[in-house]
Amino acid sequence: RHIFVVHGPNLNMLGQREPDHYGHRTLADIDRAIASKATELALQVSTFQSNHEGEIVDALQGAVGRAQGLIINPAAYTHTSVAIRDAVLMLDVPTIEVHLSNIHKRESFRHRSFIADIATGQITGLGASGYLFALEALARMIA
Ligand code: DQA
Repeated sequence: RHIFVVHGPNLNMLGQREPDHYGHRTLADIDRAIASKATELALQVSTFQSNHEGEIVDALQGAVGRAQGLIINPAAYTHTSVAIRDAVLMLDVPTIEVHLSNIHKRESFRHRSFIADIATGQITGLGASGYLFALEALARMIA
């Protein structure tokens, strides 16, 4: 059981970037926590980050036939990208959309997500723990 985790643009700057919204943990810290939770749940996990929309599309295409579940924080592309939405539809596996901050509490342009209505579920506002809850949910779903 292989889970693919995708982090979108600017998430490589976590730890330095707007800590009031996104906390003090770096992406490497978060990826380590994801890896150790995956081990605990007997899941295999790969994590991927890119600042480029097309690279995220390529990575999702590359996961076809390999990943049985997807956790994706498309970051700013959440609110703009039909291409990432289409790639998630194509991958066609249980998908949890994760946001560190609560997008519904913030500017109105962040309230719209191009992923929400095609995802299995959305976790928003629970910080880095959201990724770990998403792994637990997928572990049950793809038992
Ligand atoms: C984010 C929320 C997005 O609106 C923002 O553009 C991000 C991060 C989050 O994790 O809270 O870059 O996806």
